[in-house]
Amino acid sequence: MNISKLAPALLAVGAAGSSFAGTSSDTLVVYFSASGNTQKVAEVIAQDRRTDIFELKPAVQYSQEDLDYRNPKSRSSKEHEDPSIIPEYVGDVSDWGSYKTVYIGYPIWWGLAPNIVYGFVSKHDFAGKTVIPFSTSHSSGHGESGADLARKAGAGDWNSGVGFNSQPLAAEILEKLGSAKTEK
Ligand SMILES: Cc1cc2nc3c(=O)[nH]c(=O)nc-3n(C[C@H](O)[C@H](O)[C@H](O)COP(=O)(O)O)c2cc1C
Repeated sequence: MNISKLAPALLAVGAAGSSFAGTSSDTLVVYFSASGNTQKVAEVIAQDRRTDIFELKPAVQYSQEDLDYRNPKSRSSKEHEDPSIIPEYVGDVSDWGSYKTVYIGYPIWWGLAPNIVYGFVSKHDFAGKTVIPFSTSHSSGHGESGADLARKAGAGDWNSGVGFNSQPLAAEILEKLGSAKTEK
C-alpha cells in the first residue's frame, strides 16, 4: 500500500476532527459540585454544546459532616460565616483567554454560590466573555447567586443565569438554558 497516497486522506480526517474541536473550544463549562447534582447538569450542558469542561475540585474534598448546614460548626457553615475562607481547588483552566462563553455551575448554599466559586471568579478576568451561571438547589432556586458572582467578577457580560432543582432531567436543563440565553 502506498503510504504517501494515504497521508492526505488521513490529514483530511484530522483536519475535520480539529475544526470540530475548534468550534467547541471557545466555550467552557466550569462547575463545583459537592454531592454530584451540579456535576450531572454540567455534563449535560457540556455534551449538548460540545464544550470543554473544568471541575472546581476542592483540594480537600467535603465530607458528609462538612456539608451539614444544620451544624454551625461544620466546615460549610464556617465558610458561610466567613467569606475570607476560600477553599483551594486542584489545577486550573489551561487556556482561559481562549474562551468567549463560560457557563459557571454550583450548588446553592444559603441562597448563594459556595465560597470556592467566588475564589474562582476573583482569580479570573471575565472581560469580553459572556457568562451564564447555573445552579442546583433543594428548593430556594437561583435567586441573586449569579448577580452576586457578577458583582464579584466586576467584568464580563453576565447573564442572570438559571436554577434547577437537585436532579433535573436533561430535557428540562436544555429547555431552561435555551431561554436563559437571551435573559440578561
Ligand atoms: C451547605 C449547604 C447549604 C445548602 N443551602 C441550600 C439553600 O440555601 N437552599 C436550597 O434550596 N438548597 C440548599 N442546599 C441543597 C443543595 O443546594 C442541593 O442539594 C444541590 O443540588 C447540591 O448540589 P451538588 O450535589 O452539586 O453539591 C444546601 C446544601 C448544602 C450542603
